[in-house]
Amino acid sequence: MRGDGPDEPTWDAPGVAEWLDGDWPSLPVAPAVSALVDLVERHHTAGSILEVGCGTGRVYEALIRRVSLHGFPYVGVDTSRAMLARGRARYSGVDLRVGDARGLTFARRGFGSAVCVDLLHHLPDIDRPIAELLRVATDHAFLMLWLAKAGAPPAPIEPRLVTAPDHGVRAGFYEIPRSDEEVIAACERGGGRVLDLHVLEGDRHNVGLFRVGAR
Ligand SMILES: C[S@@+](CC[C@H](N)C(=O)[O-])C[C@H]1O[C@@H](n2cnc3c(N)ncnc32)[C@H](O)[C@@H]1O
Repeated sequence: MRGDGPDEPTWDAPGVAEWLDGDWPSLPVAPAVSALVDLVERHHTAGSILEVGCGTGRVYEALIRRVSLHGFPYVGVDTSRAMLARGRARYSGVDLRVGDARGLTFARRGFGSAVCVDLLHHLPDIDRPIAELLRVATDHAFLMLWLAKAGAPPAPIEPRLVTAPDHGVRAGFYEIPRSDEEVIAACERGGGRVLDLHVLEGDRHNVGLFRVGAR
């Protein structure tokens, strides 16, 4: 990215929230998100649900479509004020706050489950955020992130310039598909244990759905 754009990921850069928000509200929930929510629905039994990197509410929307999850309080956190503003406009009264996966301000075991969708492959380090998710969860962390396809070269650990001219977007994002072994090891280091792993095949990368027991 050096000399070619921002040095740090810029989720609040002009147009990014509008671009990522896109037309998902008018579409059926993406199959991968739906499959992760299946796991949450099957295994979340008690306490509040925390979502880290909640964006504009796509996962919240998928969670509340499940009648069995209606009774559980939800809190969403995200570093981007632009994302949160769009989420708050769409879901008034929902608890959406500024918060950073790398240092959550919540008490240990303050939630039943912690959910994190499409964030970890955008961070250069997954150990700290995974440990934080497991620290605040009593029972499970549910993770959805990109996994590298077999034989793929290692992704560079620096932000990649992404442009979307229609939305005026020119911003840098880390895009780092991990191996399932890396994620399993990070969960172990964070004090958890992977209990379920589903891999959905994709063109550029696969998508991993992890249910992690918080020990
Ligand atoms: C690709 S979006 C996914 C949003 C949402 N989970 C979804 O699936 O629609 C990644 C989100 O993570 C947020 N984010 C980036 N770094 C973060 C961090 N360190 N802590 C919390 N959120 C972060 C971004 O602002 C953005 O909203």
